[in-house]
Amino acid sequence: MTNARGILFLAGDGIGPEIMGEVRRIADWYAAQGLPLEIEEDLVGGSSIDRHGTPLTDAVLEKAKRIGVVMFGAVGGPKWDELPFHLKPEQGLLRLRKELGLFANLRPAMVFPALAEASSLKRELVDGLDILILRELTGGVYFGEPRGIEDLPDGEQRAVDTQVYTTPEIRRIARVAFDLARKRRNKVTSVEKANVMYTGVLWRRTVQQVHDSEFPDVELNHMYADNCGMQLVRQPKQFDVIVTDNLFGDLLSDVAAMLTGSLGMLPSASLGAPDALGRRKALYEPVHGSAPDIAGKGVANPLACILSFAMLLRYSFDLPLEADRLEQAVARVLAEGYRTPDIWSEGTIRVGTEEMGRRVLAALASLPR
Ligand code: IPM
Ligand code: MG
Repeated sequence: MTNARGILFLAGDGIGPEIMGEVRRIADWYAAQGLPLEIEEDLVGGSSIDRHGTPLTDAVLEKAKRIGVVMFGAVGGPKWDELPFHLKPEQGLLRLRKELGLFANLRPAMVFPALAEASSLKRELVDGLDILILRELTGGVYFGEPRGIEDLPDGEQRAVDTQVYTTPEIRRIARVAFDLARKRRNKVTSVEKANVMYTGVLWRRTVQQVHDSEFPDVELNHMYADNCGMQLVRQPKQFDVIVTDNLFGDLLSDVAAMLTGSLGMLPSASLGAPDALGRRKALYEPVHGSAPDIAGKGVANPLACILSFAMLLRYSFDLPLEADRLEQAVARVLAEGYRTPDIWSEGTIRVGTEEMGRRVLAALASLPR
């Protein structure tokens, strides 16, 4: 099939396989509806370590590059905690991000009306919340050299991580931020620590330059990362798009996730630069981790993973209406009162992973098309 659309499913560890099973069910439904999907599955993280001795084999990496679109579950767990750093499950994910060039990580934090009560903040602070955290994903302290732990002559040790950013890296993520803002509420908040870090100084200056020369119509403000963390829990609706570096983006997106009522609700898309045909390599994953404590119990919330698949439909397959429908289906199931334990509250109906997935699919199938 010439127009087949490939996806590589990497379920990973912990609750990964359970939540990805529900995405698979939805993807198979789309295939039955005539979407020419070609899905391959493979190992990543701890499950790859157990089978192949490495969190990501070269063969799986090549497969990801060839297919170009990855649907990712979660990696990691106590079983692999004692491994040397470069062999840990997380390295599989980091290598995929780096090798596929996925520099732009979109982490939307939206509050579904039915879930405003589940937020740790008061309803009026989060009702209708719709912000987008754009995290730089292939630079900064996650990959900067030198890094490591060395022995000192006096028997002590010394650890080094390096935060490094170049102007092209900052410019390309800034452009994505301004582009996204134009399709939303036209406002960008750029976040760094220009008061203590040189990378912050360069970040602020470069984002401002990109703004002034290419996107003067977009509203831009700058904020220190600590203040941004505080503002997110004080008055989250002041934000539209937040653009920030790899580490601050990691922290702030967890904070934003909690505003939505549960980490189990937050999807993400990681995109590369467009190729000559305008196609971007991409990886879609829930922001939450592998939750080893509840793995295998059938209680994990599959919604962040399902919403990540909606992002896949939107950004990789250019099917915005289908993405909207899938999001509507999730909203409907929540409005009907169905909740996995992480978002359950008095008066709502407690369901497990599989029932939640089936309900979303039933809602999706019943939407007019
Ligand atoms: C995330 C995770 C990862 C990160 C881990 C699993 C390496 O926390 O995607 O936010 O730090 O980027
Ligand atoms: Mg994180």
